[in-house]
Amino acid sequence: MDIRILENVEEIGAAAGRIICDFVNEKPACVLGFATGASPVPTYNYMIEQFNEGKVSFKDVTTFNLDEYCGLPEGHKNSYKTFMFENLFSKVDIDPAKVNFLDGNADEAEESRRYAEAIKAKGGVDIQILGIGRNGHIAFNEPSDEFTDEAWKVTLSQSTIDANSIYFDDTEMPTSAMTMGIGSIMRSKKIILIATGSSKAEAVKAMIQGEVTPQCPASILQKHDDTVILLDKAAASLI
Ligand code: GLP
Repeated sequence: MDIRILENVEEIGAAAGRIICDFVNEKPACVLGFATGASPVPTYNYMIEQFNEGKVSFKDVTTFNLDEYCGLPEGHKNSYKTFMFENLFSKVDIDPAKVNFLDGNADEAEESRRYAEAIKAKGGVDIQILGIGRNGHIAFNEPSDEFTDEAWKVTLSQSTIDANSIYFDDTEMPTSAMTMGIGSIMRSKKIILIATGSSKAEAVKAMIQGEVTPQCPASILQKHDDTVILLDKAAASLI
């Protein structure tokens, strides 16, 4: 793990954004894996800035998002697809035909197969962006007794529901989601995990210094050979 402690969220966004933009300039038809939540937003802002300055184009990039809620209709304002269009895709030249999402309303087994095949057909994910949940979850892989492999349908934990329900004002937050599995995340060639704020400090400590266990899904990243962990001081306060 390449662990970097930076001053603030803007520096973290620029550090992650630079890695991505440099890579896209080297390999324009690359495959990027995106995450939702607050953590990657400064990274997306940096990418938008670089695009606006004419320093990078995403027109040949293919994207795969990590996860999607079950039970929300297409186009719902709280869906992760809407989040990605609002925070990144509509602001750069990404081709909407090249963006991929899990369908939270599809049959679990068929959807898992479809996503795995789509990722494989593109040659795998080159760079995967990750956040981390307060309980150590990555994507929506909650603490459990075993590491998952391909995409699956998860029942969300109370910790995740408490953390994410602030985004749901007039809709009840879904209690399940389709998520890429740990195996699919680990097959990404490079991973950039972003954690900021003191609410992530325990999870960050367990991820970096704890044993590798599905009780802290992010701890598996200790076994990935090209993972960059970008932290602010608060998230790094217990390591
Ligand atoms: C959600 C997402 C995760 C994300 C996590 C942390 O549960 N499924 O992919 O990493 O929230 O979000 P935030 O960055 O807002 O703290």
